[in-house]
Amino acid sequence: MKILVVGSGGREHALAWKLAQSDRVQLVYVAPGNGGTARDARLVNVDITDPAALADFVVAEHIALTLVGPEAPLAAGIVNLFRARGLKVFGPTREAAQLESSKDYAKAFMQRHGIPTAKYQTFSDAAQAHAYIDANGAPIVIKADGLAAGKGVVVAMSLEEAHRAVDDMLSDNRFGDAGARIVIEEFLAGEEASFIVMCDGRNVLALATSQDHKRLKDHDQGPNTGGMGAYSPAPIVTPSMHARVMREIITPTIQGMARDGIPYTGFLYAGLMIDAAGNPRTLEFNCRMGDPETQPIMARLKSDFVSVLEHACNGTLDAVSLEWDRRTAVGVVMAAGGYPDSPQKGDLIDGIPPETPECVTFHAGTVLANGALQTAGGRVLCVVGLGDSVKMAQKQAYDTVEKIHFNGAQYRRDIGWRGLKQ
Ligand code: AMP
Ligand code: GLY
Repeated sequence: MKILVVGSGGREHALAWKLAQSDRVQLVYVAPGNGGTARDARLVNVDITDPAALADFVVAEHIALTLVGPEAPLAAGIVNLFRARGLKVFGPTREAAQLESSKDYAKAFMQRHGIPTAKYQTFSDAAQAHAYIDANGAPIVIKADGLAAGKGVVVAMSLEEAHRAVDDMLSDNRFGDAGARIVIEEFLAGEEASFIVMCDGRNVLALATSQDHKRLKDHDQGPNTGGMGAYSPAPIVTPSMHARVMREIITPTIQGMARDGIPYTGFLYAGLMIDAAGNPRTLEFNCRMGDPETQPIMARLKSDFVSVLEHACNGTLDAVSLEWDRRTAVGVVMAAGGYPDSPQKGDLIDGIPPETPECVTFHAGTVLANGALQTAGGRVLCVVGLGDSVKMAQKQAYDTVEKIHFNGAQYRRDIGWRGLKQ
């Protein structure tokens, strides 16, 4: 069968790489894909991004199943469009994707269904927002309501920073419509984890746990980014924590969506904050897999992912149990110079070694131009190493990272550090 993966990042490369390993797959198309998916003989890039044109392509090529990677096409309703045309697709509808595309929707949903999250209020009036901040004090967190490519959250450690964030979002309109409303919420302290599941509207299948590294620099310093690396599993999510998150957060979310008349299908990613006493709270929902979490997670998945997706599309996820590589996977992002503010493009990349059972390099912001691989975006590559411990997985990843060269490359040297404590 043929499969289509929509997107162009490291997440989509990892998903397509895993799908292409299935004996049942003839070809995996990636739209639009990147330099890495262009180079892989089992993958074919398709230069189409318009959802209606993609649906035409799926029909013309007899593609059996479509998997949508990023949030933007999901929030724009690509799943609604594909389903209306009778095409098999895995992802949430536009309505269900509001769990990510509107912070206000997600917060009101969590409050209504008793799902643990930070206390909050929503504002479109700047004076009221400023007054709320003065009444509640700092630290406090300001979030643009709409999609802002990971840049719409300000964790303000001082009142001044909080007030400035309100002015930026509401008065200066820095995020356009996405920032016309803001959510102001209580600051939560603790350790974060990424908890990602697949849903078919009714049944839930948890994927392996993981932890992202959002700050640009070692020791969680520097500006926030889309994610500088991730590893799986995350030791903080012990079996009892796993059960508790399923019981208190995931199950009530899926049941709540069904009760609200918006059955949830697709990946659901709960960003968790686990406090010192071991209480998990939801920081946010994403309606897709994480990037870079997908890269170490896919590197550990042993089950045939195509069969899993078929069950997910057919509403039979209860028949699936996943098999995972027992090793730890550490994914190190290599970002372009100038990332995250103004990433440099067009630098030649060399030294990427062939994949081994211990290490695989996924591409994100790369392009193949006249046979030469060049940087073309902020996060360029994600090198995933596998090993029997976090330390051994780190060694595999970093030995490879050191062989890869492009001008201005930036990467963290401590991916997985929280896992070393154990
Ligand atoms: P989000 O896009 O909502 O995940 O927020 C981005 C990052 O901001 C999260 O990964 C956290 O590190 C941080 N963050 C978001 N909400 C809170 C909160 N209520 N308290 C503390 N940190 C937060
Ligand atoms: N790695 C965080 C995200 O995908 O949102």
